[in-house]
Amino acid sequence: MAQAQGSLTPLERNAFQTELDYRKTDLFVLRNEQVEVAITNYGARIVSLLVNDREGKKTDVITGFSSIQEYLEADEDYQGAIVGRYANRIAKGRFSLDGTAYVLATNNAPNHLHGGLKGFSNVVWEVLESTDTKLSLFYLAADGEEGYPGALNVTVTYTLQDQSLLISFEATTDKATVVNLTNHSYFNLNGQGSGPILGHTLQVAADRYTPTDSTSIPTGELAPVAGTPFDFREPKKIGAAIETAHEQLTFGGGYDHNFVLADSCRPDLTLAAVATGDRTGIRLEVLTTEPGIQLYSGNFLKGKHTIKYGLKDEHRYAFCLETQHFPDSPNQPAFPSTVLQPGDTYRTSTVFRFTLA
Ligand code: BGC
Repeated sequence: MAQAQGSLTPLERNAFQTELDYRKTDLFVLRNEQVEVAITNYGARIVSLLVNDREGKKTDVITGFSSIQEYLEADEDYQGAIVGRYANRIAKGRFSLDGTAYVLATNNAPNHLHGGLKGFSNVVWEVLESTDTKLSLFYLAADGEEGYPGALNVTVTYTLQDQSLLISFEATTDKATVVNLTNHSYFNLNGQGSGPILGHTLQVAADRYTPTDSTSIPTGELAPVAGTPFDFREPKKIGAAIETAHEQLTFGGGYDHNFVLADSCRPDLTLAAVATGDRTGIRLEVLTTEPGIQLYSGNFLKGKHTIKYGLKDEHRYAFCLETQHFPDSPNQPAFPSTVLQPGDTYRTSTVFRFTLA
């Protein structure tokens, strides 16, 4: 029986304590006066994130499951996970680097999606540091793992600062490779599982987006959002134009598109998007150093899974704002580069900041 969003049953830590591939999984809780976030080192996933709504009621704004077992059974949605080595799609699972062709799994036929069969979201990360406000996780992806060149050392650090969760990535490689990392949290700012997100207000700091072909691979064009359903330069409801007869919305089954924030990585965290829950007044600000952000309106959620508190992940009950480099960059020389060379350090960061409207 579905519980009211008001009765948040605490997560049971022992439901997250198991061993996979000889590595221990666990649940870590970071908290301060404003935010409480639970993270598991299985896929470095955010499991829940509690903030107060405008009436002072604790609300869990990130979709997730109550146990590792449920993540294992329902892993295709990348709930709360760190996705990599390459977040988003690579056309036909193929790219070339320095004259060598690489072949990856086409796990989202006909394309490669979110790093392949296991990627970084279905592996156990090593815990480097765990405090009340900080969790640092490490994963070593072997040379050739999922078909990508180079052994990649990846660290993701989650840090709570006031009402913000900072997510910072660092990676180094021993061979030239491609890297694109993101956090794939599904938000519902009215409370996870509480209803469609179409009434949320959204603003995105982008005057262009990357239209795709029918398989969600960018055509290469950076098209203006002006005069299209992709114009979120002023705050507007996610649902306002989602049913418009527009080829791009047909291809994505709704919004599933990369917005162009900048022409390259930026040194400083810059405001990329603001979303507000219409029923709670909870406002999420996304700041990032990344040049792109994927708005995914939960089009493939189908109510197949029981999420926390006995609720369901129904169609468009959550949205993602995935900060990233553009999809298919390894095959698109005009896009900002995703190549990482040995001796260089990949560094990006993103902040989810929670305020009240
Ligand atoms: C993609 C969607 C995909 C989803 C996975 C998003 O990042 O853009 O097309 O279905 O991840 O659940």
